[in-house]
Amino acid sequence: MAHCSGDWLLSLLILLLGLSVQTSQAPISTKNGVKSSVFLSPKFVLEPGSVVNKYYYDIDFPRGHIAIKSFNAEVVDEAGNPIPLYETYLHHWLLVRYYQPKSVEVPNNESDFIFVMNTGVCGSALGQYFGLGSETRRTATHVPDPYGIEVGNPAKIPNGYEEKWLINVHAIDTRGVEDRLGCTECRCDLYNVTKDENGKPLTPGYMGGLSCCYDQTQCRVRRGFESAKRGLYMRYTVKWVDWNKFILPVKIYIFDVTDMWKKLDDGVTEHHCRVEYEVAACTATDGAHDACIDTKRVSIPMPTGGNVIYGVAHQHKGGIGSTLYGEDGRVICHSTPTYGKGKKAGNEAGYIVGMSTCYPQPGSVKISHGETLVLESNYSSAKRHTGVMGLFYILVADSLPHFG
Ligand SMILES: *[C@@H]1O[C@H](CO)[C@@H](O)[C@H](O)[C@H]1NC(C)=O
Ligand SMILES: *[C@@H]1O[C@H](CO)[C@@H](O)[C@H](O)[C@H]1NC(C)=O
Ligand SMILES: *[C@@H]1O[C@H](CO)[C@@H](O)[C@H](O)[C@H]1NC(C)=O
Repeated sequence: MAHCSGDWLLSLLILLLGLSVQTSQAPISTKNGVKSSVFLSPKFVLEPGSVVNKYYYDIDFPRGHIAIKSFNAEVVDEAGNPIPLYETYLHHWLLVRYYQPKSVEVPNNESDFIFVMNTGVCGSALGQYFGLGSETRRTATHVPDPYGIEVGNPAKIPNGYEEKWLINVHAIDTRGVEDRLGCTECRCDLYNVTKDENGKPLTPGYMGGLSCCYDQTQCRVRRGFESAKRGLYMRYTVKWVDWNKFILPVKIYIFDVTDMWKKLDDGVTEHHCRVEYEVAACTATDGAHDACIDTKRVSIPMPTGGNVIYGVAHQHKGGIGSTLYGEDGRVICHSTPTYGKGKKAGNEAGYIVGMSTCYPQPGSVKISHGETLVLESNYSSAKRHTGVMGLFYILVADSLPHFG
């Protein structure tokens, strides 16, 4: 991987502390058989109003046949201090798994990878294993025993390939900007963007979203505001156990409330997950302020069933909750955002700093094969919002643990 001064600093620290070193340079600590390591992404540099949307290939990650138990992350500065969201807004990060031919040293061509997508249903639009945004610091991601996310199984990695991981980090520096919410919602006028990243004119009426805050774009800063560039990192903590036959593997599904799926002639379901949508501001005639709720709903067929082990929604600022229902209307998981109330990283006032999660008793929440699920995402429409999301992430196991 590309070595940066941060890696160097980390190695130096490890040397100074005399800790045991893995090839990835991060020490491993073990507690009750669960291993844990803390890694740093390559450094990215931000200045007021600027945006990074970087893809770091071949990041440091535990190797071998393992079961991932959790993945947590946060943005830190060069001294390791957590950076609050009102300075660097973490729009999202995604952890993606891929195979690369051993013969390829520096990949520079799409045929140099095979992306290993999660189980469904949005395909490459949402193919990640983990991914969150501003809620990262206070959202549980752990996979309860005896379950785990199986990776690195040598029997499944194609001959001549290696398994690797990439992390996509999308962050916006909102120090000194004119309109914090507008910059974090990627409003095109604030970025003075009329064409997307590939130079294609924006579709008429497109007010904001990822097409207006791609890598290297710049959000409008207050006149005269001066602040330095600074180097930042994603610091991520992975917990895992070495694979053994008692671990039950879980599959990852990510649903999107914007999914415009259709059944093709051959019976195959084709999904079109647009990921982002807009919330129009309610009008005065909609009644009281409190009644201004935008509800978006979609029905999505679940290809294969199983037992739900974990669930969590992803929403942006303005989000007030999301529920995944079964075909009969039962609640599979209801997930609500926590808004911060203070200054500190992890409790930033007005930002979504966490999402509630579901850990149903294994066997108590089942989805059957081909069942049509309903995903509902609510936002406050007291204000207009652009580039919002309504995703739902669940972990599903085929089997139940055998006790005794
Ligand atoms: C990518 O790699 C393939 C196979 O090695 C090759 O045929 C193709 O020309 C390459 N494309 C580019 C743009 O380099
Ligand atoms: C906005 O973009 C236009 C053309 O792309 C450019 O002429 C103009 O100077 C930009 N405005 C600002 C404030 O950067
Ligand atoms: C969304 O809002 C509607 C209307 O207030 C409400 O009936 C529904 O239960 C809400 N759903 C969620 C997931 O919060």
